[in-house]
Amino acid sequence: MKIALLGVGTVGSGVREQLAGDSRFEIKRILVRREIPELGALATFSFDDILRDDEIEAVVEVIGGEQPALDYVLRSLRAGKHVVTANKLMLSENMEALAEAAHAGRARLMIDASVGGGIPYLHNLARAGRRGGIQSVFGIVNGTTNLILDTMQSEGADFADVLAQAQRAGYAEADPTADIDGLDARAKLCVAAAAGFGCAVRPAEVDTAGIRTLSLGDVRVFRQLGRVCRLIARMDRPENGSAPAYVEPTLVGSMDILAAIRRNDNLIGYVERNAGLQYFFGQGAGKSPTAFNVIMGLEDLLEGRPGALERLAGSVSVDNGRLAHRYYLRTAARLEIEAQALADVGEARAYLTAPLSVSHMHALVRKLRKADPNLFFAGLRD
Ligand code: HSE
Repeated sequence: MKIALLGVGTVGSGVREQLAGDSRFEIKRILVRREIPELGALATFSFDDILRDDEIEAVVEVIGGEQPALDYVLRSLRAGKHVVTANKLMLSENMEALAEAAHAGRARLMIDASVGGGIPYLHNLARAGRRGGIQSVFGIVNGTTNLILDTMQSEGADFADVLAQAQRAGYAEADPTADIDGLDARAKLCVAAAAGFGCAVRPAEVDTAGIRTLSLGDVRVFRQLGRVCRLIARMDRPENGSAPAYVEPTLVGSMDILAAIRRNDNLIGYVERNAGLQYFFGQGAGKSPTAFNVIMGLEDLLEGRPGALERLAGSVSVDNGRLAHRYYLRTAARLEIEAQALADVGEARAYLTAPLSVSHMHALVRKLRKADPNLFFAGLRD
């Protein structure tokens, strides 16, 4: 199969290395933005060279970011070229347009590498979802924040130092805001929802909180509570056109399986009506694992397997009014709800609330942040 690579950065160069010597695939063209002499005649600055080349059956998009990746992927699909992509941001924001383009061009869109790096999650989720029985998708889907949470909690390390370590290791996004504010996890949740439930969810509707304001003072209180903080993304089965969906720091018991996820590993799962709870664990980021999952997508194309988005049928809205849990909240602002005071943390006070709906809590936090931008909150998993 003759293929083209769009981009040859971290994941793209991993794909090239892992395809070396595999006679079933030939990289015919590589789209680049700047001169890379060692690529010789393989390199092109023109996407049209790739689009017009009828020998190229599949395009591997590893540019990242929304544009121009989206434009190239839509045009490839409409022209009947299959696409393999690791681009969670592009996918999550344009799910329906991409599925329509694939349908129009009778092309397949392989997305497994966009969630969980090398973990075979989306593939299995989409397969399990064919019988319509997925009840919930959830888990730890961001390695950078897990590394920060784990290292702060186990070594008392400083937030900024661990973030710099994640950037050096190549886990963190180019703009780590996407990691620490939960946006990367949110994009992955929306992609998982499409694969598992066959529906599109607008990322902007998902109540999303990250770990930017977590302090070592909070970590000390978590320890007193016998809990560990993890960033969890969750969406439940849509009913009557809406579904609960959120990304939140979450305090889990120290014996919870989620507490055992160390460093930058991911643990992603689903609950299926008959199969019950299923978890997938492993290296969720990085050059080699992600490139490996891209190549699995190419193998699936070669073997005629369907893509994970083929069941996509319309969109649903987010309704977090019917899902409630208790919350840890540390703030210097005055609270207008009843909550149990736990400890003083610097100038602020840490509290435990009664069960509140996810939508209520996120609305409350938006209000409180105006007085105290530094507040931190986390849901409690019972
Ligand atoms: N920034 C992401 C993470 C990379 O830390 O998990 C993998 O998508």
